[in-house]
Amino acid sequence: MSDEARPRRTAVVIPAAGRGVRLGPGAPKALRALNGTPMLIHAVRAMAASRAVSLVVVVAPSDGVAEVKHLLDDHALPERTDYLVVAGGDTRQESVHLGLKALPEGVTTVLVHDAARPLVPVDTVDAVIEAVRDGAVAVVPALPVADTVKEVEPAGKPGDPEQVVATPVRARLRAVQTPQGFDHDTLVNAHATIALAGEGATDDAGMVERLGAPVVVVPGHEEAFKVTRPLDLVLAEAVLARRRANDGF
Ligand code: C5P
Repeated sequence: MSDEARPRRTAVVIPAAGRGVRLGPGAPKALRALNGTPMLIHAVRAMAASRAVSLVVVVAPSDGVAEVKHLLDDHALPERTDYLVVAGGDTRQESVHLGLKALPEGVTTVLVHDAARPLVPVDTVDAVIEAVRDGAVAVVPALPVADTVKEVEPAGKPGDPEQVVATPVRARLRAVQTPQGFDHDTLVNAHATIALAGEGATDDAGMVERLGAPVVVVPGHEEAFKVTRPLDLVLAEAVLARRRANDGF
């Protein structure tokens, strides 16, 4: 079959195996509720809202695979989308790698989306998929940064003053979000080539950059923020309340 005749199948890998310690004690972050629904379910629905997505692979905490399968069975999700749950690893990089290994033959476009970004709008998801289908091998949604950013020499002890080593020009900086989109073979090659070092890569596009492949940025969305700290939960619930008031979502 020629490349053009081959169907383009898009799958999403959702790493959801983190403990979320910065949110405080409690269940793994992805399983915490936002307006009564687990964050992971919001994230899965956000991906399945795109008509282009035919498969979602959720990477669950290794002791939580059965629980996550039950959760997916218990919540209404679009019929056109298939779901798989696999066990994750000790780092995000490992968890994504394990998700990629579970992909069936025939997937040509892969999105990687953090369960911790439950509210990304479908237009952002579609824009990332479209950019990959238009020929980019790696696509990252991103926003300009509001704060000036300093690079420092990290202090030995938390709270100690830190030496500033550089102030990058703010207008050239972007804060990157997910879903990040990839040509399947390019991302699989990056994960096969780049060894795990320390806590591993926090960003899949960064791994593709290290292979020397081009990565492009498309506009992100302020509602695609990452739920990391307790205040982010308040903001996420406020966004959901606004959506419900605006369109009965
Ligand atoms: O901790 P951080 O905010 O960087 O996590 C980003 C995403 O990676 C989260 O959705 C989290 O569940 C996931 N993750 C994972 N496996 C790990 C660590 C984080 O799937 N070992």
